[in-house]
Amino acid sequence: MSAAGPGPTGTAALVGRLRAAGCVFAEDEARLLTEAAAGGVDQLAVLVDRRVAGEPLEHVLGWAEFCGLRIAVAAGVFVPRRRTELLVREAVALVRRGSSTDGRTADVAGAGGARPVVVDLCCGSGAVATAVARTLHGEVRLDLHAADVDAAAVACARRNVVPLGGAVHQGDLYDALPETLRGRVDVLVANAPYVPSHAIALMPPEARAHEPHVALDGGADGLDVARRVVSGAAAWLAPHGSVVVETSRAQAPALLTAVRATGLDARLSRADDLDATAVVGTRSAER
Ligand SMILES: C[S@@+](CC[C@H](N)C(=O)[O-])C[C@H]1O[C@@H](n2cnc3c(N)ncnc32)[C@H](O)[C@@H]1O
Repeated sequence: MSAAGPGPTGTAALVGRLRAAGCVFAEDEARLLTEAAAGGVDQLAVLVDRRVAGEPLEHVLGWAEFCGLRIAVAAGVFVPRRRTELLVREAVALVRRGSSTDGRTADVAGAGGARPVVVDLCCGSGAVATAVARTLHGEVRLDLHAADVDAAAVACARRNVVPLGGAVHQGDLYDALPETLRGRVDVLVANAPYVPSHAIALMPPEARAHEPHVALDGGADGLDVARRVVSGAAAWLAPHGSVVVETSRAQAPALLTAVRATGLDARLSRADDLDATAVVGTRSAER
């Protein structure tokens, strides 16, 4: 290795080592790890050792790609998955629709009207809140909030969300939110843990060994936390506000039933390109 990087022979050896450790995209990983080490061979050796030992690439790099953005992700924090981009699509569409139809003058690019309230519950790294805000940047100014029960997630989300003008809160679901948001939330998104407890053992080692249990475990049928999100949503939503919860295809019918039981209008959202499913509940104007 040279002082500036591994050099061609070193790069081939690095790729071989990563491939032998089971990294499918070994060339890409070698490039990203080299870039992350900023040319320092000692640092590169540390990063490669961590990756070869089985840490998720995103934890080693310190960031994950999500919606075309680099989201800061720390060790011990859930790595955002591509399928969760469905929540971003839904949230952006709902904000745009609400801004044009709910009779308010939304704060479009700083015009000074009411700012739509967007909450990312169970935020982890804050990837969803970040991507929604970045997508709507220059178009609609948001009153942006994210919350999580886990201190490591909250610290990580603050790195992503606070620079965008958002606030990050810590606590159990709605307990974390400021009371001033009650009845005022326009879009509430949640990718709560939804892996059935018995299925965690079947997850890839990168997830079950390096992502916190609290980020994965959804209880016996996977819906314990999602049901609590849904049952609490109506009290926090503004008239015409919506809650969007990621789920699996198999769990969706039960979650739709749970949404309907709260009095919200319920619909299924599906993106085949992401293999993603979400349930959307919307509050009617009168209650
Ligand atoms: C599947 S991860 C999703 C993280 C992030 N939304 C994403 O998509 O990358 C679930 C997150 O929910 C959080 N969580 C679990 N139970 C919670 C609770 N009762 N209240 C708040 N957050 C909770 C976990 O700490 C974890 O960060």
